[in-house]
Amino acid sequence: MELCSITGLRGKVTVPGDKSVSHRCIMFGSIAKGTTEIHNFLKGADCLATIRCFRTMGIDIKETDDVITVHGKGLHGLHAPSDILDVGNSGTTTRLLSGILAGQPFESKLSGDESLNSRPMKRIMEPLTRMGANISSILRNGCAPLYISPGKLHGIHYDSPVASAQVKSCILLAGLYADGETSVTEPSLSRNHTELMLREFGADIRSSHALDTTKATAAISPCKELYGQKITVPGDISSAAYFIAAGLIVPDSEILIENVGINPTRAGILKVCEDMGGDIALLNERTEGGEKIADILVRTSRLHGTTIEGDIIPTLIDEIPVIAVMAAVAEGTTVIKDAAELKVKETDRIETVTDSLRAMGCDVTPTEDGMIINGGRLKGASIHTLLDHRIAMAFSIAALVAKGNTKILDSKCVEVSYPTFYDTFEQLL
Ligand code: S3P
Repeated sequence: MELCSITGLRGKVTVPGDKSVSHRCIMFGSIAKGTTEIHNFLKGADCLATIRCFRTMGIDIKETDDVITVHGKGLHGLHAPSDILDVGNSGTTTRLLSGILAGQPFESKLSGDESLNSRPMKRIMEPLTRMGANISSILRNGCAPLYISPGKLHGIHYDSPVASAQVKSCILLAGLYADGETSVTEPSLSRNHTELMLREFGADIRSSHALDTTKATAAISPCKELYGQKITVPGDISSAAYFIAAGLIVPDSEILIENVGINPTRAGILKVCEDMGGDIALLNERTEGGEKIADILVRTSRLHGTTIEGDIIPTLIDEIPVIAVMAAVAEGTTVIKDAAELKVKETDRIETVTDSLRAMGCDVTPTEDGMIINGGRLKGASIHTLLDHRIAMAFSIAALVAKGNTKILDSKCVEVSYPTFYDTFEQLL
């Protein structure tokens, strides 16, 4: 994809359904009794991988243009997979599915693409093993491919060293199959879609917050069954983030992004935009299926640098590439700290973001847990996405304000989370 600088992005857009919520609808619908009807499902490669895995375990999932219907078979209705479970590029599929598989009376193997098979899985293998699960890394390197065989699961309390919704959700899902209560405490609250949605499906699940620290705990008790639901997936704030950034940094722009999920465990980018001086407003706020939703109006603004650190990090972890782009054209310095988790995403995003910013002429320094960005002018460059969808989209936005042309290499990887990204973009021209 080749892009150049523009002005005047104007109009109204919607973004596809939330990736995290879409995965969970398929998973919970598959192990629930009855039918789950999903509207605004994200048909991105990651969520399609989740559908593929559950079909391989005998779940009938029907797709039309507007609705996905999952014919769930109950907590104990999955069949042994007819094949190795192909999780593609999707960390969420791998980690949440492993929690479910740990409680099944059959063997399974999971494997993904090169990036996925190099991401850390010890973070789930360790707590699952403590619960009594039999899970191993086939190549003994702490990564997928994973092999899971039947084990009798016990409820545990797990003090997680990382604020990760994938780790938390994996343990809670295994907890559905354990012999007692399972709880997870994380250093600060990560996205809570699992807790919100499992409750809607009828699970006995509770959340609490420590009063004196940022720690958060979620606890689940085994139940007899979950029950199918009708769900409308909110627009993905992680996808909206690209248009929020574009609206703020492209001169003479005004963009309304409709129906975006603004769950507080996901909405850190909104606060950062405000802190940077962005003109951003939430309209028409409402709650649907336990999730907060709003329309987001952004207008071109003079941004300035800020510091992003501490417990806001898990609420914007996937948005850091595009936040870094905003920082690169803001006045002054932006410091991003406490974000070492960036190193274990689809790529090492401390490296991919800082390498790409440098290629565009930005004064940026990578650190152990983030980066320091001095704002200025960007120039066009060739961006090596390394097949990371968020790098492709973040630097497509950078291209809009850079001097000269920018080439996004392997831009097709946007299909992982936002197959229609470039089409939505055209609506604003
Ligand atoms: C996700 C959790 C986050 C996020 C990922 C989706 C989820 O990962 O980066 O894109 O759906 O639970 P971690 O749990 O590894 O932080």
